[in-house]
Amino acid sequence: MNAQGREPLAVFGAGWVGLVTAACFAELGHEVTVRDVVPEKVERLQNGEVPFFEPGLGELLERNRDRLTFTLDAADAAEAAELVFVCVDTPPTYSGDADLSRVWTVIDELPQLDRRSILVMKSTVPVGTGEKVRAALEARGLSHIGYVSNPEFLAEGTAIENFMNPDRVVVGAFLESDADRVTALYEPLGTTIVRADVASSEMIKLAANAFLTTKISFINEIANVCELVGADVVKVAQGVGLDHRMGPHFLRAGAGWGGSCFGKDVSALKQLAGNSGYQFQLLAAVIEVNELQKRRIVQKLQKHLGRLRGKRVALLGLAFKPNTDDMRDAPSLVLASRLLAEGANVRAYDPEARPGELLQGVALCDSTLEAVTGADAAVIVTEWNEFQTVATPEIRDAMRRPLIVDGRNLLDPEATRAVGFDYEGIGRAASPLSALPETPERELAD
Ligand code: UGA
Repeated sequence: MNAQGREPLAVFGAGWVGLVTAACFAELGHEVTVRDVVPEKVERLQNGEVPFFEPGLGELLERNRDRLTFTLDAADAAEAAELVFVCVDTPPTYSGDADLSRVWTVIDELPQLDRRSILVMKSTVPVGTGEKVRAALEARGLSHIGYVSNPEFLAEGTAIENFMNPDRVVVGAFLESDADRVTALYEPLGTTIVRADVASSEMIKLAANAFLTTKISFINEIANVCELVGADVVKVAQGVGLDHRMGPHFLRAGAGWGGSCFGKDVSALKQLAGNSGYQFQLLAAVIEVNELQKRRIVQKLQKHLGRLRGKRVALLGLAFKPNTDDMRDAPSLVLASRLLAEGANVRAYDPEARPGELLQGVALCDSTLEAVTGADAAVIVTEWNEFQTVATPEIRDAMRRPLIVDGRNLLDPEATRAVGFDYEGIGRAASPLSALPETPERELAD
């Protein structure tokens, strides 16, 4: 540690978590060596290029260039550091468990360090991984290396803000002195530090993502019931979320959750429970509800258009959420496949995502106008800001049929209908309440 309390750090894995972590610690004044196994990626980073889209990351890396080193050499990186952050990915295996092979590679690659460095796990791992890593370090004669679980809670698109202004930082350690050293790194952020044992820290990460997905699947089911009884889920979420015991966040009904983390982490927790002898039934339902939710858009289109064979559908947004180009596990992928399977002619536009091979059979467009021209329906799949103003006379006139299915409840239903569109949201009464016929369902709702 130098006189200003700054430690030389290493970050293994120049993916999204690793690069954000490295850039933010550099911004806090630390010297950071970033190590990755992909030569082209390291070369691009050395040349000042950012390999993916994350708001503010390019500027942060550039501003801290003097404190950042990018290398392929694991030994160099580890030897230069007091604390080694593990930020490698842990993708799902066929069984739904987390694949830890990249974590084990990092352990295998550590050189024979003679001082007490600390391995800090940011990758999302099953509960029990810390114990296994400790055993693996002992087996390699590295029992003097400390281990700390320090899960990340960064959301794509707001990752730098999440790192610099976190709700909390979780530090799970076997030794208090190791926890002290990691805690000290985060002290400048002035946030609550939750100190825990390693297993609890690992569980906090999995439970957090499981709870967030549960909230979303819950509000999506409420939305589906709202459609049957003539209620508006946006109002319902507002009324429920103002209760501080529940909170307003993650109550946006829509076309389902996606992204590289939620699906993998929820499945990993479900499998972890199963492998330990407990059937986590709630999570099974949370996952199932989400799969069905992505497909409901197809039913909504069928309701208006009948058979979809030969119908032209424009998908607005492909990324799993706005402000990212990430399409991993995006609801758009399932939706596009279902539409193609129904025989629809699918066109798509996203401001950032470039699906490449992922979306075979979908015509990619350079603008909203190009995508919707001649379309029988436009579906808002990702709530990019620019789609807020999609309901214009120009767009209406360009479409063969002015139907908007708003998979993210981005638009105001009445204002959209006033421009002459048919509008269908998620969990919003399909027509103004006064126009609904007196159905048995409505009587039930009363
Ligand atoms: C998520 C968590 O929010 C982070 O805290 C966590 O660190 C990260 O996973 C991870 O484990 O690495 P992220 O996947 O980037 O972050 O994205 P979110 O903003 O959580 O959104 C995930 C999905 O949920 C998106 O598809 C989004 O559209 C959907 N969502 C979110 C809803 O459908 N409704 C909501 O109310 C909120």
